[in-house]
Parts: sequence; structure tokens; C-alpha cells
Amino acid sequence: MAVGVFDSGLGGLTVLDAVSKRLPDVPFVYLGDNKHAPYGVRDADDVYTLTCAATERLWDAGCDLVILACNTASAAALRRMQESWVPRDKRVLGVFVPLIEALTERQWGDNSPPREVAVQHVALFATPATVRSRAFQRELAFRAIGVDVEAQACGGLVDAIEDGDMILAEALVRSHVDALKRKMPNPQAAILGCTHYPLMQEIFQDALGPEVAVYSQANLVAESLADYLVRHPDMKGPGTESMFLTTGDAKRVSDHATQFLRRRIDFKAA
Ligand code: DGL
Repeated sequence: MAVGVFDSGLGGLTVLDAVSKRLPDVPFVYLGDNKHAPYGVRDADDVYTLTCAATERLWDAGCDLVILACNTASAAALRRMQESWVPRDKRVLGVFVPLIEALTERQWGDNSPPREVAVQHVALFATPATVRSRAFQRELAFRAIGVDVEAQACGGLVDAIEDGDMILAEALVRSHVDALKRKMPNPQAAILGCTHYPLMQEIFQDALGPEVAVYSQANLVAESLADYLVRHPDMKGPGTESMFLTTGDAKRVSDHATQFLRRRIDFKAA
């Protein structure tokens, strides 16, 4: 009954950590496509092809349900995958909707018409591909009216995190927050729309100031997955073993993952 968790690299570990704490009896198979990270600078066709290949690998590992713990893949590829590629007995879910449901104060799966919500000025920090897709604004428009979103493409940040260069990563966060604030001086809420960014959450919060509510996805996705599995228990696939797979250098990826999660993580070649 394994569930697959996919990201272009290490960022999805923030989601993996939360889902495995929330659902300790479910085995999770994590796949990082580190060889091809970052996705955020690729075009939509490229992200689609890579995400389909990774999803198939997770199906082969016994995961009928795959979570794209990657906003770039969720934004650039998920809709196309769901519309024309995913077979009837498999599911692929993204990480956008739980976040937007939280921001717009909705219960899981509440499909009522869009309405006014408490927040009106929202900063979105994401990869260039996610910002370009406008998927966040599209999903938000289904649920809320009158929300002003200013998006900041955080070029370079995923590379710095993947390389473990946290000094560069901090400098980039501060300069991207400055750039955002020049466009929107007083955001009420900030969305960390890339699963790598929670690894820098304290720096984002510090740069934005204590009055800004910072939303990140890990716990929201964990709650929504728990709810989904109660409603769809048949979607736990036949896999029984938790494991970490990477298309990159398993030793290097294991060392960085261990540093980020502060517990030993051993990746195997995918
Ligand atoms: N963690 C991915 C996301 O949530 C990173 C994308 C990338 O590889 O650039 O968007």
C-alpha cells in the first residue's frame, strides 16, 4: 500500500517528511529527479516528459497514487497528464490545491462558487516556470474573488539549495523578497510556491516581517492526503517498502538530504 512522492530534487522531502509523520503506517516511495533538476528553468513540454517518466517509475515501484510534491510539475504538467495520460486505475495529484484551499479558508473539495476572502494582497514566490504558467492565479480564481497576487520568480534559488549553498540561498531569498516588496509593499500573506522553499522558511519570514502570514505546503498536503486516503482507500498501491530513489548521484543526494532533514536518508539509484 505504498504512495509515491515525486520532486525534481530535494524539495519534495519537505512534503515527504510531513506525510510520513501524518500517516506513519503508509509506506512512501520518494523519487527525486536530481539528474534533471532544476525544472523551473525548463519549458512545459520538457517538464511534462520528465514528470511522466518519473511517475511511471513510481507506478513500477507499486505506487498507484503519486503526489507531485513539485509545484513546477503540478503547474506545468499535471493538468495535461490527468486529461490525456493517467490510466483509470492510477492517480496523480498535485500540491497547489490544498494550499489554495487553506488560503481561501475552504474545506477539502469544497467546489462552491468563488467568494470574497480575508486576504487581499498575496505574494507568491515560485520558480520561473510556475510563475509563467499562471496556474496559481487560475486555481485561486476558481475559489476567491478580489485577491491581488504579485508573483516573484525566484531564479537561482533551487540550484543553490540543491548545491547545499545556504549562504547563496539566503542572499537570493532576501533579494527576491526585496524585489517583491518593490511591487507590493505590504503583502498580507506570502505563499512559498516551491517545495524547496520551506527549507528557507525562517529567512523568508525574517525578510518579509512578522506581520506577513507565510504559507508552505507540507502540512497542508499531509492533511489533504490523509483525507483523500480515507475517501479512496483503494488508491494505496501494492508496494510495501518505503524507499528513496534518485536519478542523480545517490551518495551526494543522500548527504544533502541527510543535512536537510537532520536524519540519515539513504537514496538508491532509480
Ligand atoms: N520543488 C520544485 C517546485 O516545487 C522545484 C522546481 C525546480 O526543480 O526548479 O517547484
